[in-house]
Amino acid sequence: MRKLQIAADRKSEIFIDIDYLESIVSISKKHNQVLLIISAKMAKLVKLKNLSNVKILTVPDGEKQKDFQSLQKIWRELGKRNFSRADAIIGVGGGATTDLAGFAAASWLRGITWYAIPTSLAAMVDASIGGKTAINSPAGKNLIGAFFSPAAVYIDLQFLKTLPKRDISAGMAEVIKCGFISDKKILELVQKDILDFKEIIFRSIRVKVKVVNKDFKESKLREILNYGHTLGHAIEKHSKYQLRHGESVSIGLVFAAELSHLFGDLPIAVVNQHRSILSAFNLPTSYSKSALSELIKLMTSDKKVKNQKIRFIGLSKIGKPHWMESINTKQIEIAYERIAK
Ligand code: GLY
Repeated sequence: MRKLQIAADRKSEIFIDIDYLESIVSISKKHNQVLLIISAKMAKLVKLKNLSNVKILTVPDGEKQKDFQSLQKIWRELGKRNFSRADAIIGVGGGATTDLAGFAAASWLRGITWYAIPTSLAAMVDASIGGKTAINSPAGKNLIGAFFSPAAVYIDLQFLKTLPKRDISAGMAEVIKCGFISDKKILELVQKDILDFKEIIFRSIRVKVKVVNKDFKESKLREILNYGHTLGHAIEKHSKYQLRHGESVSIGLVFAAELSHLFGDLPIAVVNQHRSILSAFNLPTSYSKSALSELIKLMTSDKKVKNQKIRFIGLSKIGKPHWMESINTKQIEIAYERIAK
């Protein structure tokens, strides 16, 4: 077992390679009552023990659970059971579940303790780490939310064995991003024939922890974690969420690398390295030529855009991200040409 710690809004411990059932038992001993939030599909996959003070609440599968109805369902349950600040919530699932459980915990009594048990690679290395919690609304994805760290994140590597290849690949996009922005060794590890997930996950989380410890509320530094995400988010929306977050980010990473080469000093060899490492996981590295004008519109409406100028996170070399301020439409067109199909 390996351990990392975030010291942001509160102390948040991250345990990598730990038994999730034992973790639930130990949480149940610390609190009077616990509400365990899990999607219907996940509830069939995991064998939860019957613990007298742990109530299991199922929510819909996937991204649709992150809505106001699910939140109301959780609030009703917490109200019915008189949940106090001595009680706790656990979210067991992918990023949608940990986002929802975290936001429910943040909003109840202005914040009760919560724990994350991420079951997808993307949730292990990204969504459950760093305290971003949210639900979706008709106004957009993740617009209603709070920065509210879990007391602990328990990562059981056994879950990786149950995941379809496509889910592993989607999570790998965030892992590879961490390699390019901060830890070159990750790029070596992901190219090995046998993947050492414990080490890969530990190193990816450590990249995020270092950033979040310095800039929890994303006043600036945390934005480097959005390398590949400006175009990535736009592609995700443009594909009507048919592409996974990680798949969209994969294309966004290649685009950000192309921008960094064309309008900065990133060597072309590193751009090509982006393509080869991502495509080794069957991740997409190009997108429809005709989508560009729509993608530009989507990027200018992204919440990370300041004063209508599109800011990208670029790279000057591996491990050295930087801010590319006010990239103009012409520059976007030139770089997009190189990823268009
Ligand atoms: N997923 C990027 C962040 O948590 O800041």
